[in-house]
Formats: sequence, structure tokens, C-alpha cells
Amino acid sequence: MRMKASTKRCLMYALFSGIVVILILYHIVPCDLETRAIMVPRDAQKYIYDRTIRQIPYDRNMPIIFIGGMPRSGTTLMCAMLDAHPEIGCGEETRVIPRLLGMRANWEKSQLEKKRLSEAGITSDVLDSAMAAFILEIVAKHGEAAPHLCNRDVFTLKSSVYLNQLFPNAKFLFMIRDGRATVNSIISRQVTITGFDLKSFRNCMTKWNSAMEIMFSQCLHVGPDSCMPVYYEQLVLQPELWLRRILTFLDIPWNSSVLNHEDFIEKHGGIALSKTEKLTDQIIKPVNLEALSKWVGKIPEDVIKDMASIAPMLKTLGYDPEANPPDYGKPDPRVANNTLHIQQNLDYWKQREDEIIKANGSNDD
Ligand SMILES: *[C@@H]1O[C@H](CO)[C@@H](O)[C@H](O)[C@H]1NC(C)=O
Ligand SMILES: *[C@@H]1O[C@H](CO)[C@@H](O)[C@H](O)[C@H]1NC(C)=O
Ligand SMILES: *[C@@H]1O[C@H](CO)[C@@H](O)[C@H](O)[C@H]1NC(C)=O
Repeated sequence: MRMKASTKRCLMYALFSGIVVILILYHIVPCDLETRAIMVPRDAQKYIYDRTIRQIPYDRNMPIIFIGGMPRSGTTLMCAMLDAHPEIGCGEETRVIPRLLGMRANWEKSQLEKKRLSEAGITSDVLDSAMAAFILEIVAKHGEAAPHLCNRDVFTLKSSVYLNQLFPNAKFLFMIRDGRATVNSIISRQVTITGFDLKSFRNCMTKWNSAMEIMFSQCLHVGPDSCMPVYYEQLVLQPELWLRRILTFLDIPWNSSVLNHEDFIEKHGGIALSKTEKLTDQIIKPVNLEALSKWVGKIPEDVIKDMASIAPMLKTLGYDPEANPPDYGKPDPRVANNTLHIQQNLDYWKQREDEIIKANGSNDD
């Protein structure tokens, strides 16, 4: 009994002195930062995997493609065309990226908030690296993996300069479309956009003008090596000419599959579209001229009269505000033929739309 108690005491002493020694050592010998850096690598290379289990590295320095512009200005078509290229992966609109950019812009705008954040140690550098990591993860992982990642979110190009700071090799495709056509489409499709009064053509035209002003100046600011304006009308009239220019700008080899985006919808490696998009954007059809001048005759007389002063960006971008419609140019023969073929086969295209609705009938968004 006595022996046992003394052994116990001995053990207690041993344990106690052990702890003391560890504590002393802990305080005397500082953490070796270098050892820690080896144990937890800071910039481990990250990978995504495509269907063939090809390993694709991704990081902030890759040339991510950002497609943007106003809603209903051809961003979906642009994305569908590029997605048909085997080396490019676009995915659907992410929706969270523009919201995050908007939040950051608000933090940045408020001096008080900025001061508080910086007092809390959240400096611009910390915030930027967190923003970049978030955006990169979303862009890399939300669609099918491909060596060239691409993001399409309307209005992200309002932050081109900032995005260019986060992703120094990013490429921006700024979709431009005649504002009258864009607004007519927004109103007739009842596309809700914050700040747009869908009952007033004049109000929407004004809002179009100010959004385009911002995106255009951001595009000019990042410069022609990083931002390419793409005119929707020209893309539709001369797809091959423009797609060749776009791929050259993106530094990606030409592949003629971009000319036949409609063949890649619903296929593996092709574009994934929401049901609404498939129907409203005519993406299931080959490139054609149906949508170019639909707006003519839909604008109130008083708005037509004041067009040049309501939307000076029309003129800045090269659209004649007085012409209804302006001459957008001549289509290449292939597009003219597509348009003719679609008009002659309305039943076929109606059936194709129905098939796509049926295929995803239970899928409501
Ligand atoms: C173009 O893409 C298709 C797949 O979409 C591929 O089979 C073909 O090899 C590509 N052509 C070139 C020249 O890379
Ligand atoms: C016109 O388009 C139709 C349907 O896509 C095609 O069958 C036909 O060969 C085309 N004609 C020419 C001259 O390209
Ligand atoms: C649409 O349906 C097809 C076939 O049922 C399916 O493979 C595809 O994932 C669906 N697409 C969407 C966006 O739900």
C-alpha cells in the first residue's frame, strides 16, 4: 500500500516536471518559421480534371476569359461558341461572382468601413487575395474542366480593372449590342435588372447608357491586349471572321467547331444551358439574323425623337441613333443561308425546342 502511494507520487512528479520542461522549451525556442513553411506548402499547385482524367493546373496567372456586357447582348451566344471549342470551358452564369464584386465595391466605397477593416488587419492585400481565391475556385470548378477557363456573368466587366489586378493575364470579351435591341429584348422578355424600370423604354435606355459607359471605360483602361470589344451584330453577320479574330486575341488555336455551336448543346464537353436560356437566346439554332432588327417599330415615338440625347453611347459605339434600323452590314453567305433555312423550316425548329423542353421537363429553374 505504502509502495503504491509512493510510486504514484513519483509518477506525478515526473509528469509535472515533464510538463514544466515542455512549457519552458516552448517559450525559449521560438517557432521555426521555415520548418512550418515546409510542412504546409503555401502555394501548392491546384488541379482540375476533365472527363479523360487529364490533369489541368489552375492558378491566378492563367489567362481566364471573362465574357461580359449588358444582359441580352450576346454573352450567351459568345459563350456557346467558345464552349464548342475542345480547349475552352465556360459553364453557366455563376451569379455569385458579380455579387461578390459588388460587395467589395461597397466596402471600398465607404471610408469608415475601409478604416475598420484595415484596423482589423484586413488590408487591401488580404482582401484581394481572398477575392482572387474565391473567384478562381468558382470559375475553375463550376463547369466542365478545360485548359482554358472562361466565365460569363453580365456586369462583371464593370470591374474589369479590378479583375485585371487580381488576374494579371485575364482576357476580357466585352459584348456590345445596339442598345435599342438590348432594351427591347430586356423589356419583352421581362428580364429583371436592379434599377431598371421595365415599364419605361426611356428609363431602360438611360440605364443601358450609364452601364455601357462604365464597362466601355473599364475596357479602354485595361487596354487592347486584355480587353476586346465584340459587336454582337458583327459576330452574327460574320461569325468566322470574328471568331478567328477572337481566338487570335485569346491566343488559342483555331478549331472550326466554334462555327457550329448548335451541334454541341447538350453534348459532353459542350455548353450547359439553363432551360430558360435555351429558349430565349435561340442558342439551339445556327447563327442567323432573326434577332438583329426585331426592335424596329417597338420604341415609343418620343423616345425615338430623343434617342441621341438619351443614349449618347449609341453614337460613341458607332451606332447611328437616328436610323431605325441602322445598316449593320452584310452577312456572310453561310449566315444568310442559315437564316433562310430557319425561316423555311419553322416547324422543324419548333419541334427542336419542344424536344429540349421535354428532355429537361422535370428540371425547373
Ligand atoms: C477540333 O475539335 C474537335 C472536337 O470538338 C476535335 O476532334 C478536333 O481534333 C479539333 N481539331 C483541331 C484542328 O484541333
Ligand atoms: C444551306 O443550309 C442548309 C441547311 O443547313 C444546307 O443543307 C445547305 O447545304 C446550305 N446551302 C449552302 C449553299 O450552303
Ligand atoms: C437535360 O437533360 C439531359 C438528358 O436528360 C441531361 O443529360 C442534362 O444534364 C440536362 N440538362 C440540364 C441543364 O439539366
